[in-house]
Order: sequence, then C-alpha cells, then structure tokens
Amino acid sequence: MVSQILKNARIYEQDKERLIKEEERPAFHLSARVGWMNDPNGFSFYDGKYHLFYQYHPFDSHWGPMHWGHAVSRDLLHWTYLPCVMAPDRYYDRDGCFSGCAFTMPDGSHAFIYTGVATEVADNGEVRMIQTQNLAFGDGLFYEKSAENPVISAKDLPEGGSPYDFRDPKMFLEENGVFHLAVANHAEGRSGCILHYRSRDLVHWEYVSTLAANDYRIGLMWECPDFFRLDGKWVLLASAQDMLPKGLEYYSGNGTFYLVGDFDVETGEFKAGEDHAVDYGIDYYAMQTVQAPDGRRIMIGWMQNWDTCNLRTASVPWFGQMALPREVWLQDGLLYQQPVRELLDLRKDEVVYENLPICGREVELAGVCGRLLDLELSVEALDPSDIYKKFSVRFAKNERYNTGLSYRPHERTLKLDRKYSGSRRAIMHQRRARVEHENGRISLRIVLDRFSVEVFVNGGEKVMSATLETETSAEGVSFYCDGAARISLKKYSLG
Ligand code: FRU
Repeated sequence: MVSQILKNARIYEQDKERLIKEEERPAFHLSARVGWMNDPNGFSFYDGKYHLFYQYHPFDSHWGPMHWGHAVSRDLLHWTYLPCVMAPDRYYDRDGCFSGCAFTMPDGSHAFIYTGVATEVADNGEVRMIQTQNLAFGDGLFYEKSAENPVISAKDLPEGGSPYDFRDPKMFLEENGVFHLAVANHAEGRSGCILHYRSRDLVHWEYVSTLAANDYRIGLMWECPDFFRLDGKWVLLASAQDMLPKGLEYYSGNGTFYLVGDFDVETGEFKAGEDHAVDYGIDYYAMQTVQAPDGRRIMIGWMQNWDTCNLRTASVPWFGQMALPREVWLQDGLLYQQPVRELLDLRKDEVVYENLPICGREVELAGVCGRLLDLELSVEALDPSDIYKKFSVRFAKNERYNTGLSYRPHERTLKLDRKYSGSRRAIMHQRRARVEHENGRISLRIVLDRFSVEVFVNGGEKVMSATLETETSAEGVSFYCDGAARISLKKYSLG
C-alpha cells in the first residue's frame, strides 16, 4: 500500500523536476532529482540495470526527514529517475529512512535492508533517535516494507552498544543460505565500531562479532560500512565522523577510510592492516560498492562534505551529487581507483601533446580546454639531476576563476586548491596529499564535470574529489612550472 506521505513526495518531485534545466545539472554525475541528496543507498544490479537509491529530502535543498530517491542506469553515467521508493511513513521510520543496501532474493525479488529512525522523548526530557534495521521488498520500481519490521533492534546489540547510533546495514555475503550484514554502531563515548550479524531468514538475526573497533583512532562514530572480498583479501570501507587531522592522511571533520585484511567467516574475525583515506579531496563520503555482472567491484560516494553543505543561503532546486562510479582493486596492499571504463565511451575530440617542455611561464595549449573534460597528464623533470620546484595545472579557468593542482616534488605533496572557484564562503578550499615520485614523474587524470573535479593520481593510487561552483563558461586550462618539466597529455571532451 502506498502511503499518502510517499504519494506526496512522488507528486512533488515530478512537478518540480520540470523546472530544472539539463544544463543546470552535472552532465554525467547523478544529482538529486529535486531537493536534497546525501548517501548512495542500495547500489545494486537488478533486472538488467544498475539501481542507485539515495538519501533524499525532495521538499527542500537541505537535509530533512529522509526518503529514498531512485535512479537506474545501464552505463553508470546516464541515469533515469524513477519514483521515490520509500518515505518515512511507519512507526519505526517515522523520522527517516536512513541508509541501507539492496540485494536480490533467491526468489528473484529485490530487497532492501535499511535503518529506520524514530524519535523518542525519555523520562528526563532528553530527545533520542531510536535506530533499527528494517526490510522492504520490491520489483525494481515499487517496494513494500515488511510486516516483520523492525528486524534488528536494541535487543540485538552487544553489551554497551548504542541503540541511538545503530545504522547503515550492508549485506556483505550470502552463502549457503546465510545472510551476513555489517552495521555501524558505537560503544560508550561514541568511539565507532562495525558489527557483524547473520541470519537465515532475514527476520531473525544473530550478532556474530565486531568486525572492527575504532578505539578513537579514526574520528568518533563510524557510518556507512561496506565490506567485501577483493583480490584475495577483504576490504572494509567506512566514513568517520568528527576526525582529528593526522598528517596528510586525514583532515578535521567527517572523512573516509579503508582497511584491508583477512576475514574468517566462521568466527567473524577480521584482521586488518593500516588504515588509509579513500579520497584525499574535499568532497567525498559514505561510499558504497556493487559487484558488476562482469566481476568488477564498483564504488560510488556522495560528492559533498557535511561541514560545508549547509552554508548555502539561497534556495537551489537541487543539492547533492554522487561522485563518479569507480572501479576499485588492490595493488601493493592499497585500494586503487579509476573511473568506470564506461567513461571511455564518452570520450571524443582527442588532442595529444608529447614531451612538451614547460619552463618558468604559464602556457595554454591549443585544443586543451573545456568543462566536460577527461585529461590524462604525465609530468617529469626535464633534467633528472635538477628536479623542478613546483608544477601546476589550472582548469575551470577564466580571468576571474580557476581551480588548480600543484605538485611540489621536494615536499612530495600534491595540493588541490579551489579558492578561486566561485565559493563565497570562508570554508576549506585546499587539500594536500602525499604523492611519491621518481625524477619528478607523476601522472594525473583530471575528470571535470560542470560542478566537480576528480583527480586520479599515479594510476589511481590516490584520488582527490571536490565540488566546484565555477560558472560553466570558465573553460580554460593552463600549465606552469617553477623549474623545468616535460609533459605529455591526452585530452578528451566528454559527452
Ligand atoms: C551518513 C549518514 C548515515 C545516515 C544518513 C542519514 O552521511 O549520517 O549514517 O544513514 O547519513 O541521512
């Protein structure tokens, strides 16, 4: 049965969507159909298409009672909006349908497990949000919440677990009729952890283990876990709230991290090595993955930063976009990323330069400009015995605006700087990442859409993502070197 609350959302989104022109949206990144979008949810391949759901508040460009928006795609780059699938309309999710995942049931139906939020006022007047895990089943278009909900609640927590921060279930294994789930939680003091549950029927769940515990190493509460097999290992992805900065690995605020290790499915023990950031840019959070039919592991994240997204004064018709879906793999124990190969099909108008010296002055190159752009650039010292001091590339550029990357080989740092990108707010506009080199050699792949840049460094070893507010007529690209470098590049327009 479709509730009035869900009907209202569907009518509203259909009406308002018409007011948004195509060129006011990203060209190949999914944006909110109308209103607000945050985390990707239920990223899955079902009935011949990729389905992506998302945290959605259609009625406003700010966060509010969460619905699930829905879009489908065959190539992960061109998305078709479908009607909103869930609204906060049951007693256990009346204040929000928070993040969750989707999977295909043995009977062929599509299922969600997601977090329901219901606010409760305690005897002492304290307002608390009870978070529980809930099911819904559907056909790729319409979904029905289960009569058994909630299926995981406070009573299923290990000792000391918080019923108020207990969310974002992700199914990570279905084997021999057993479903395995990772859920975010925290113990006393808000130090995050990821819990492992298992079930045979999706209704009765047994707590198995704590997959990973924070112990205040990486921020406080952890959110949006994902856990999967990759290249013979297991990878845990999560997003951490309230981080303290750590070298060039983490910055203050909410950020992302991953752990790589070995997992024993019987005992639920995950033994992992060092943690690393998933993205070193400004805007990336709450990533989730899907396994494509051809075996690729594809990750998508919300391209936004919780600390900056509520600073807008004007009301905009949509707010929030996803980053590019990225293929991920392990190389030398690290999580590598590249845009899905489907992006290659959008490439046109190739322009190639080889071994071009760049010395001491800013240059623009014929044919190298645009705002829907895929630019592969490699840089090295012209003379290996005299490595340049700094190399920079600027893009989304005109007299007033530009966004830049600069690499200082002696400091082994790559800086992304968007302070001239059109933002009128006093927020962070720069991020640096540590990037190694030999003879000043690094490679950068810069993907620009109308309102974002994503930079893939050294074959995908590190990625930096940021949203841009730069007017779309700022299309220039320039190169500069303090010292002497040689560059080779391939530039493509995308579309
Ligand atoms: C992460 C998050 C999730 C939660 C959702 C609510 O960005 O806080 O933990 O499910 O957003 O919109």
